[in-house]
Amino acid sequence: MMIRLPIIAGNWKMNKTVGEAIDLVRKLKALISGIKEVEVVVAPPFTALYAVGKELNGSSIELSAQNLHWEQKGAYTGEISPLMLKDLGCKYVIIGHSERRQYFGENDEIVNLKIKSAIKNSLKPILCIGETLTEREEGKTFSVIKRQLEAGLKDIGDKEIREIVIAYEPVWAIGTGRTATPQQAQEVHKFIREKLEVLYSKDISQAIRIQYGGSVTPENIKGLMDREDIDGALVGGASLVAESFARIVRFKEI
Ligand code: PGA
Repeated sequence: MMIRLPIIAGNWKMNKTVGEAIDLVRKLKALISGIKEVEVVVAPPFTALYAVGKELNGSSIELSAQNLHWEQKGAYTGEISPLMLKDLGCKYVIIGHSERRQYFGENDEIVNLKIKSAIKNSLKPILCIGETLTEREEGKTFSVIKRQLEAGLKDIGDKEIREIVIAYEPVWAIGTGRTATPQQAQEVHKFIREKLEVLYSKDISQAIRIQYGGSVTPENIKGLMDREDIDGALVGGASLVAESFARIVRFKEI
């Protein structure tokens, strides 16, 4: 069985001023120093990327953005390009988060443009997919996941796919305190891995990391990480407090 390095990422969303962000990342560095068996990523808002990136110099914590525009530069008022993110030291970029899909009209085509642009510009995408409550109740979970995966990964070849992390985030579990059970999450993660095998190969599907996201806490992380196809977590609310995020990162000690 392929050993995949767990990846735990904190999505700070639209939270933290520069001063607050520096304070959080300093505390975090102290709390998780020496951790090697987990890749740790933080995704501050754009305005704090530079300052947080400077704080992370020399640490093993990686920097991620929460979004990007697919063009490198030009007349796109208010947007941020992949070149700008690279310049700030970002390694990852979250793409297609359900809040972007829900509130900012991002569809699978836009998500695909962003994925291609990120890879072309040497950023690793964290591709978010997940069904809404209505879709789940109507028994559409797997068809939604299949569509988001196929459309999001359109024209992504065997080499590029290895740069991608997938985050399964059931929309009904985000910020609601209602986590998917480890069983429910594992079921979808397994489906995603099987789909990747069909789209690419067994070897590739075994190598790709699939994170779970949606109300992850220090209390429920262990049960999720114990499942075979769950390779990490994308954490929102609980990543805003250094102590709780550090406890999630240290899930092996629980
Ligand atoms: P949550 O957010 O942990 O606050 O539910 C997760 C996410 O949206 O990535």
